[in-house]
Amino acid sequence: MPPVLRAEDVSFAYPGLALFSRLNLELGPGEVRVLVGPSGSGKTTLVHLLAGILTPDRGTVYWDAHPISRWPEEQRVRLRKRYLGLVFQHHYLLPELTALENAALPGWILGRPDPDRARRLLHRVGLAGKEGLKPEHLSGGERQRVAVARALFSRPRLLLADEPTGALDRQNAGGVLDLMLALAEEAGTAVLLATHDERLVAGLPGWRIERGGLVSLGS
Ligand SMILES: Nc1ncnc2c1ncn2[C@@H]1O[C@H](COP(=O)(O)OP(=O)(O)O)[C@@H](O)[C@H]1O
Ligand SMILES: [Mg+2]
Repeated sequence: MPPVLRAEDVSFAYPGLALFSRLNLELGPGEVRVLVGPSGSGKTTLVHLLAGILTPDRGTVYWDAHPISRWPEEQRVRLRKRYLGLVFQHHYLLPELTALENAALPGWILGRPDPDRARRLLHRVGLAGKEGLKPEHLSGGERQRVAVARALFSRPRLLLADEPTGALDRQNAGGVLDLMLALAEEAGTAVLLATHDERLVAGLPGWRIERGGLVSLGS
C-alpha cells in the first residue's frame, strides 16, 4: 500500500525567505506523527504544502499515489473533500449553523448526508444535549470538539491538524487532543499534528523542523 502522505524532495521559499530544502516525509495508513518546532519555524507552511493549499517550488506531495501538488487546483479540491480532514487553531465553524449541522456539513458537501453519524460523533466528544446550539453558545473547547468531529465525519484517509489546541488552556487541550486521536484511530485516519508545544505531544513519534529540514523524533 502506498503511504497516505508523502513529501518528496520538497523545497519552498517565500520571497526572500527560504524555508524548506529537499524535505522528505512519509505517513502510512493510520499512523500518528507530530510535527514540532518553535513559532516561525514553518509548521503552518508545511501543513499548507501537504494539504495542497500551497504548492512547492520543487519536489512533489503525494496522497496515496496521487501527485496532488502537480494537479490543477480544481482536481485537487475535488479529491481533498473526501481524502483530507483539517483542524486549525481557530475552529472555522459556520456561525449560523448548529453544532450538529456543522459536524454533519462534510456529508452534505459530499452528497452523503448522515445526521446520525454527526449525532454519534457529538456524543463521543461530550456534546450530548448541545447538538442544537450555535457556536456562539459553546465554549472554546466545545467549539474545537465540534471542529474535530466535523474533520473526521467522513472518515478521511488523512487528518492534518495545525495547533488544534493552541487557543485552549492545558486541561482542555489534553482532552481535545486525546479525543482527536481516539476518533482518528476509530476511523482508520492517519494524523499529522503540528504544534509548538512539545510537552503536549511528548512521547509521540514524528519530526522537528530544523534548518529547513526534518529531524526524526523516533518512532
Ligand atoms: N504568506 C507569507 N509570506 C511571507 N512570509 C511568510 C508567509 N507566511 C509565513 N511566513 C513566514 O514564514 C515563516 C514560517 O511561518 P509559519 O509557517 O507560519 O511558521 P509556524 O507555523 O511554525 O509558526 C515565518 O518566518 C513567517 O513570518
Ligand atoms: Mg503556525
